[in-house]
Amino acid sequence: MAISTSGGGQENWSSRAAFIFAAVGSAVGLGNIWRFPYIAGENGGGAFVLIYIFFVFLIGWPVLVSELAIGRYAGKSPIGSVEKIAVDSGKSANWKWLGFLGTFAGGLALLSYYSVIAGWVMAYVIKALTGTFVGITAPEAQAELANHYANGPMMAFWHLAFICLTIFIVGKGIKGGLEKAVLYLMPMLFVILLVLVGYSMAVGNFQQGLAYLFAPDFSKITAGVVIAALGQALFSLSVAVGTMFAYGAYLSKDISITKSAGIIAAADTGVALLAGLAIFPLVFAFGLQPNSGPGLLFETLPVAFAQMPGGILFGTLFFVLLGVAAITSSISLLEPAVSYFGEKLGMGRWVAAIIAGGIAFTIGLLSVFSFNDWAEFYPLAFLGLSELAGSPATFYQINDFFVSNIVLPIGGLFVALFAGWAVSSETIRKELDLPEGGLFAFWRVLIRFICPAALVVILVSGLS
Ligand code: PFF
Repeated sequence: MAISTSGGGQENWSSRAAFIFAAVGSAVGLGNIWRFPYIAGENGGGAFVLIYIFFVFLIGWPVLVSELAIGRYAGKSPIGSVEKIAVDSGKSANWKWLGFLGTFAGGLALLSYYSVIAGWVMAYVIKALTGTFVGITAPEAQAELANHYANGPMMAFWHLAFICLTIFIVGKGIKGGLEKAVLYLMPMLFVILLVLVGYSMAVGNFQQGLAYLFAPDFSKITAGVVIAALGQALFSLSVAVGTMFAYGAYLSKDISITKSAGIIAAADTGVALLAGLAIFPLVFAFGLQPNSGPGLLFETLPVAFAQMPGGILFGTLFFVLLGVAAITSSISLLEPAVSYFGEKLGMGRWVAAIIAGGIAFTIGLLSVFSFNDWAEFYPLAFLGLSELAGSPATFYQINDFFVSNIVLPIGGLFVALFAGWAVSSETIRKELDLPEGGLFAFWRVLIRFICPAALVVILVSGLS
């Protein structure tokens, strides 16, 4: 979205606000509203949340700054940009593998199951609109979710519908209508989240929800909790998968990258915390389990819409807006592969989008059937792994764990090593348009020392 084509075919964001909205649109999505609460719930709440916020600013922000700067400097696909800046800095062109890791092992693998959950959201729009949630109790909402899980072909249908929508928008060249839509719809999502928080305050167990989210119980910190918090921070900021290199490439020179990255990180974290504040008070008031996994949002919020005045309207609006937030993220997951296919193989946008989207759709089917026919099939059981991060190791769980807790931290580590040590510092400093010292020195210490050290320690301890 927000891309206008200038004379030479070089596309650029049409304004600073348009870029911020697009990047916030990529960052804010299911990761904040669906994934953050359930991962926080599986990892015991407060201490996890604190570590997550710490990682957003300590690791997420410097990595985000690096990706935007490298993307803008080189102006190519993520893979092409990494290669160009490496060669210009007198380093090996093989750094481009970092771009491949993000684009394919990160972006497409993530999109494959992201689209499945976005499909649930679409299905829930219809349920909300047709009054399914009117007067629904917590056990009934759980039963409704169980029905939804049980119907594999239906879930596959919605997954397909969502991927087609993503392909359609990316194929058309993301500009025009969507830019305007995002400009209005993202603030609306924010407002409706505020309404939900207000409602949760009024009818939920707000104090218990607040304490759960913000009173850290440090005895709950384990290596697994730390890596989950790191994975969530990177997932939520859309870093380490190529996306922000691609968005940086469309960014004009007069925009401050460090400030933009700060705004993106703050907005993204704010939305996640609001979602937590909307959901947990209801979880406790209705006797639901905070650690009930990926279905948490879908079994909690319908109960709120059931009793709220104007519940049909609010419920429908909420799921529509959540779907929009998911679309503005999913297009940014597909874009790196599409821009690469175009640049390297000369493919048109449509063909590239259909091929990349088709790959994500196919892998996503494995996740679809993880919730029904294959719910008790644990593909890694032969390695003794029938549980991962405390949940049954279905395809879905393995895919999410692999992307969030392995590929994203490894991607982040290599982005930090690349930006901090391989790329010429002067090139980055000029791109950031900062004087020596001050903020630039701060970014440099983070990216050269703090990020790599933290990422190595977390990866080694979290995976051993
Ligand atoms: N940040 C998105 C979310 O929180 O929903 C997910 C995402 C989008 C991750 C784009 C990575 C990405 F490149």
